[in-house]
Amino acid sequence: MDSAIKYNEKVVRQFAIMTVVWGVVGMGVGVLIAAQLIWPALNFDVPWLSYGRLRPLHTNAVIFAFGGSALFATAYWVVQRTCQTSLFAPKLASFTFWGWQTVIVLAAITLPLGITQGKEYAELEWPIALLIAVVWVSYAVVFFGTIVKRRVKHIYVANWFYGAFIIAVAVLHIVNNLAIPVGLTHSYPVYSGAVDAMVQWWYGHNAVGFFLTAGFLGMMYYFIPKQANRPIYSYRLSIVHFWALISIYMWAGPHHLHYTALPEWAQSLGMVFSLILLAPSWGGMINGIMTLSGAWHKLRTDPILKFLIVSLSFYGMATFEGPMMAIKTVNALSHYTDWTIGHVHAGALGWVAFITFGAMYALIPKLYGREEMHSVKAIELHFWIATIGVVLYIAAMWIAGVMQGLMWRAVNEDGTLTYTFIESLVATYPYYMVRLLGGILFFTGMLIMAWNVWMTTRTAPARETATVAAQEA
Ligand code: HEM
Ligand code: HEM
Repeated sequence: MDSAIKYNEKVVRQFAIMTVVWGVVGMGVGVLIAAQLIWPALNFDVPWLSYGRLRPLHTNAVIFAFGGSALFATAYWVVQRTCQTSLFAPKLASFTFWGWQTVIVLAAITLPLGITQGKEYAELEWPIALLIAVVWVSYAVVFFGTIVKRRVKHIYVANWFYGAFIIAVAVLHIVNNLAIPVGLTHSYPVYSGAVDAMVQWWYGHNAVGFFLTAGFLGMMYYFIPKQANRPIYSYRLSIVHFWALISIYMWAGPHHLHYTALPEWAQSLGMVFSLILLAPSWGGMINGIMTLSGAWHKLRTDPILKFLIVSLSFYGMATFEGPMMAIKTVNALSHYTDWTIGHVHAGALGWVAFITFGAMYALIPKLYGREEMHSVKAIELHFWIATIGVVLYIAAMWIAGVMQGLMWRAVNEDGTLTYTFIESLVATYPYYMVRLLGGILFFTGMLIMAWNVWMTTRTAPARETATVAAQEA
């Protein structure tokens, strides 16, 4: 085996920088729609600024542009380092970068124009959906090609998670987007009625399970041991974690369709699998957190580690809350309320965004040949401002959600409703204000990160490739 390996870092750098750019855009739109829920006039009577069009722009920008770019960047970095070989098909890797950015730009144009399939998290119309499929299959070729040409026998567990995420998302995307086009900007799904709903939420839930979870667990399994400079707590647990998680997630989708036309048995199946899902989720969280055992003091001084470890706490919180909300009687209260929005952002801000921040702060200086980020103090500030932001956001939504659910079901002795819908809305306004404040703080943290990244990269020359001795990988 050669002792020096030429890693492809250009594509990693491109995706890493775009993670920060799309983070600013996606969270900026999040703040705007949070404000619109308080002051609807903020749509300025312009159709493409209306809430209904900007909301999917927010979800697409944060999940697929911000989260997606982070997943591409880290998967390409991790697979090269842990397989001790350069990326397979570098031109195809470059195509995935430009292709993915094209998808994002097309989303940013079509969604405000109101061009949509109307399926949550799968809004993009068929020509864009086709481009996504091509980019994704290319991603799979680059990733698995690199695994095949690896120079170590072992396949590190982070790659298992990235690999499952890549395969599952390809299957989900293709099956859920089967549609008959009528013109360039419109199509009809091949499914109808309850079947369409089931396929959509099989997709939607596994988008959470594989895009927002499995991929980021790959990030966790590489960056936490690396940053803590310790081996993963239990390698055996990580393998059990992997198989249990991927085999159970697939069946939990019906919890999105409780009390609908979906057959009763399918709803109960979804509920039971969601409850079982608690075990592997917490197994993974414990594996990550316990990696720090014997090195807890590092948390005091290393803000990157703070981001990585606190993200796991939020992951644990969201994956405890989710199974509870999947219980039918609990869902009868939580569904349609802001409790769901609180749950979503406990996962999205606390888990997905935090682990991404940690991974990017660890990765970006390396990509620019520097020891660390321009300002470690700014990372610390980002950590605290974002933590306060996410806590304000989710606490406000929990209280608002439970309040809404209770107000909607309250009945007088004669059987009439105690509250009108408008009364519940008026009661929610103070909590929307707190959520907006939390969102502004979180967004401010994102801007601090953007500044820090700018300062880090401004002076340092970007490396196209890095030649590293194998044992340092
Ligand atoms: C500054 C940060 C953010 C703010 C202020 C914000 C705000 C919002 C608002 C106001 C909504 C609409 C809620 C409703 O319809 O009642 C929303 C929905 C959503 N956001 Fe965010 N968001 C932020 C960051 C993120 C991030 C980083 C992610 C993902 C990684 C994310 C994922 C989502 C998802 C998936 C939904 C749809 C939830 C559902 O349909 O149940 N958000 N966000
Ligand atoms: C064991 C793990 C989890 C389970 C069993 C679970 C369960 C649930 C349940 C029951 C709902 C409410 C469905 C409804 O009433 O409509 C929900 C919504 C949601 N969850 Fe989770 N959750 C889990 C983890 C997570 C994590 C880690 C994230 C984010 C990273 C997340 C993101 C979401 C999103 C985006 C929605 C809103 C979907 C929509 O209606 O648009 N979940 N989840």
